[in-house]
Amino acid sequence: MAGENRLVKLKLDNVYKEYQGRNGKTVALNGVNLDIMENEFICVVGPSGCGKSTLLNIIAGLLEPTSGAAYLDGKKIEGTAVERGVVFQQYALFPWRTVINNVMFGLEMKKTPKEEARKIALKYIESVGLKGFEDAYPKELSGGMKQRVAIARAYAANPEVLLLDEPFGALDAQTRVQLQTELLNTWEQEKKTCFFITHDVDEAIILAQRVIIMSARPGRIKRIVNIDIPYPRTQETKSDPHFLELKAEIWNQVYQEFLEVKK
Ligand SMILES: Nc1ncnc2c1ncn2[C@@H]1O[C@H](COP(=O)(O)OP(=O)(O)OP(=O)(O)O)[C@@H](O)[C@H]1O
Ligand SMILES: [Mg+2]
Repeated sequence: MAGENRLVKLKLDNVYKEYQGRNGKTVALNGVNLDIMENEFICVVGPSGCGKSTLLNIIAGLLEPTSGAAYLDGKKIEGTAVERGVVFQQYALFPWRTVINNVMFGLEMKKTPKEEARKIALKYIESVGLKGFEDAYPKELSGGMKQRVAIARAYAANPEVLLLDEPFGALDAQTRVQLQTELLNTWEQEKKTCFFITHDVDEAIILAQRVIIMSARPGRIKRIVNIDIPYPRTQETKSDPHFLELKAEIWNQVYQEFLEVKK
């Protein structure tokens, strides 16, 4: 749980972002303040277009805020870096690289010696259940397998934070549940600070220590819900009465914002 003695890993300080489009200015984020603790698992929910991906891209260093800033370990984030691993909804694998060469990518960036990089990559390929597929190309894999490779690649680079933008959004319900369980197991073994965007409230509660609910655009943090359900969590946790209470509370908040968008 977020609490005593834990370090602030990631800080969002009054983040404001506007886009200049053909139809004028869009304010995507306004006054976003948040401290994320080391090894904390954060899930972000909110209506479509409320600025979730914008926020993640600012933390990734792919976008610059118009004003305000994001900090990692007290250092202002400027540009992308291997210390911030990203997993997107669409399989952002290199199609010309095999599974193992995809997973080794971040290690190559960090100039890890080749033999060591191979060993690390194989360990993560195995941990996501893809042993035997090292030499396959992305086009030979199913959607779920591709996302497993993307997660193995992110973990293999040993980043300080993992940024996941609806990583399971394109998967069928069963594969999705399987990948949630795998990600939870990996996170419990090797804690990382995770910033995970999802539209799926069940997914948010099963994974997160805190769920951040964003308001309709311009995105602000509307509410933060502590998920006080102990780990290990399993799919059975989803029928726990407390889980259902939290789900109703979060749904209600998200739905109010959804109605704002429709207005
Ligand atoms: N490059 C851009 N230029 C102009 N406007 C943009 C750009 N990128 C995003 N926007 C606008 O900023 C707002 C927030 O977009 P963003 O992609 O962050 O939302 P989101 O919460 O991730 O939505 P979704 O849940 O649909 O993925 C939207 O209104 C979108 O139209
Ligand atoms: Mg998005």
